[in-house]
Formats: sequence, structure tokens, C-alpha cells
Amino acid sequence: MRQRSSTKWRKYPAEILPLFVAETDFPLAPAITARLTEAVALGDTGYTPPDPGVRDAYVAFAQRRFGSEIDPARVRTTCDVMMGVVEILRAVIAPGDRVVVTPPVYPPFYDTVPEAGGVVERVPLRPTGDGWELDLDGIEAAFADGARAILLCNPHNPTGTVHARGSLAALAEIALRHGARVISDEIHAPLTQPDAVFTPFLDASAAAGEIGFAVTSASKAFNLAGLKCALMVTAGAGSAAVVASLPDEVEWRTGLFGAMAAVAAFDEASDPWLDGLLATLDGNRRLLAELLEAHVPGARYRIPDAGYLAWVDLSALGWGDNPAVKILREAKVALHFGPHFGQEGNGHVRVNIGCAPEVLREAVRRIGALVG
Ligand SMILES: Cc1ncc(COP(=O)(O)O)c(C=O)c1O
Repeated sequence: MRQRSSTKWRKYPAEILPLFVAETDFPLAPAITARLTEAVALGDTGYTPPDPGVRDAYVAFAQRRFGSEIDPARVRTTCDVMMGVVEILRAVIAPGDRVVVTPPVYPPFYDTVPEAGGVVERVPLRPTGDGWELDLDGIEAAFADGARAILLCNPHNPTGTVHARGSLAALAEIALRHGARVISDEIHAPLTQPDAVFTPFLDASAAAGEIGFAVTSASKAFNLAGLKCALMVTAGAGSAAVVASLPDEVEWRTGLFGAMAAVAAFDEASDPWLDGLLATLDGNRRLLAELLEAHVPGARYRIPDAGYLAWVDLSALGWGDNPAVKILREAKVALHFGPHFGQEGNGHVRVNIGCAPEVLREAVRRIGALVG
């Protein structure tokens, strides 16, 4: 792994075990390796053509994996998910408008909203005892008070929550009533485990299709973050018109290698690889529960419904608001800092379980050695 040059493997010195940034350690899906190898051999490294095939590949993928019916004409590509989010947001809000985010949440959301001219309004997820859910009353109050949009994370990073269809439909109703827009970041959706049901926001109800935008990519499931290709998907005519009105540059920034890799990833030929990955991650998400119980008593962790990010509450250990600092310094394991996800993340760490089980075992063993 240390031969890789990505940020996961180069940010910290070699004695640090990296389980922080959302990259995975697995070999690429064979169809992706074949496509990129062919392109490198050809020197096929120019600009992305107008229709590199990503839309049709994604429409078929979403049909197979989520039962979605997407009109290919309502799919546009861009460089990455956060660029899609920021450009859609910029188009639907006016400078100074408030935009709801639901902490604890993916830290770049706090920068993306101001980048689009907005102001972050925090409506934390509500703990249910057995997980988390959207605080629909809080979101409605924010909309009633003038917030113009919500940046949803579904499945949610860092808790791994897959929001229920009913909750998404209720959110759509509320947004419609108050003239607000929903931008749904669905980057982790391909990694939903078979025991959960992912509902694309646009499919939650007719209203959701009208007022919603989805932004997604193959980059988390297939580890393609450096290649730069994401998709902006709409259903309703109004939302589609917003995406169609974005500057051509937004689409020009799609990376050619990203587009090639996305086509290969979304192809049916890659489904067995993706199913294999889900089985590996299922093993790891359960293994982490066992390891924490054995080595880090007091840690609280709910097995995520989707993705390879685990949200662990270490506040009972008395390691302060940001336990990842002590863990980095003393256990030589790099985790994501809980407080960066919002104040609800105090006392928490985010663990990347997209690695070999041996790596996870070693990381938790090192952390466990600090206990007691
Ligand atoms: C919820 C979420 N959105 C977006 C991203 C980043 O996506 P991109 O690199 O396509 O901007 C991540 C990366 O981990 C993420 O977890």
C-alpha cells in the first residue's frame, strides 16, 4: 500500500497507520484497470467528449441497483461531487441565503455552502437510540425562518445512515411548502449493504423529484477520487432547467479518465466486484464492533448501513473532545477528527474500514493499548 502516492498513504510518515481520508485499499475493479490501461497505451489523455457514455452507464446502474428510472437527458457530468453541489447551490440561492446542513456531517459541507455564497444553518441529526434520523421539525422551522435549501447527505457521512423513504418524502413536502430546494449528496449510495434500502432522494415522492437534485459518482465505491468525474441528476423540469443553465465549464471539468472509469464501474460487468466489496465491508463493519468490544471497552459504535466509514464515540474514555489527536500521537493511527464534523462530533472519531481486516485489527489493537 505504501507504494501508492495518494493522500491516504503520503500525508503521514510510514509508522502511522492511515484510516482517515475516504479512500479504499482494495485493487481496482478489473474492467476499470483494463479501460485505463488501454487509454494510457493509446495516449488517450485529452479532453472529455460531449457524451463519454457516463449517463447511459449510470442510468442502467441506478435501474439495476436502486430500481430508479432516470431520464438520461437529465444527467450531466462534472468534475467531482463537491463541485456539482457548489454549482447547483450557487444557482438556487442568493448570496447570504441560509442553507441547512445536518451535523455531524462531512466537513467540506461547512466550506461548500459559503463557497456558493450561502450561510450554514445547522440542524443536527436526531439520535433515535438505535441510530440517527433527520430532525424534520427543526428543518421545517429553518425553512419557515427563511433558509432556502438543504444539503442532504444520503447515505450519511459519518454515521452511515441510509435515510428512510418516508423521512425523505416528508422532507420533500416541507421543502416544497416553503419553496426550498434539496441537494442530495448520494456518493456513498452504491455502498449500501443488502440489509438496508437506499432510496434515491428524487424517487422518494413526486415532490422530491420536482424540488430535488442528486449529485453522485462512482468515486467512493470504486476508489476513483483522483480521476474527477461526478454526475448531477434531476427529475423535474424546473431542477433540470437549473442544471442545464450551469456554465458549460462545469461540464468541461469532467476528467476523461474519470469518465472512462465511471463507465467501466457502472457497467454490469463490475457488479460482481461491487458485490464482493460489499461482502468485505460487511465483514469489516462487524469485525470493528468485535474489536472495539474486546480492546476499547467504553467505545460506542453503531454498525453503518452503507459505506466504509465508521463513527465511533470515545467520549467515555476521557480522551478529550478530539480523541483522534491522542490516538495519532500515541497509537500512531490516523483517524478523522470528530469535531471537524461539527460540535456533535466532540469525543468521536471516524474510522475508515475500507482496508484489509489485518489493518483494522492492528489499528484497534494499537488504540486498545492506550486504554487503562
Ligand atoms: C458525503 C461526501 N460527499 C462528497 C465527497 C467528496 O466527493 P468528491 O471527491 O467527488 O468531491 C465525499 C468524500 O468522502 C463524501 O464523503
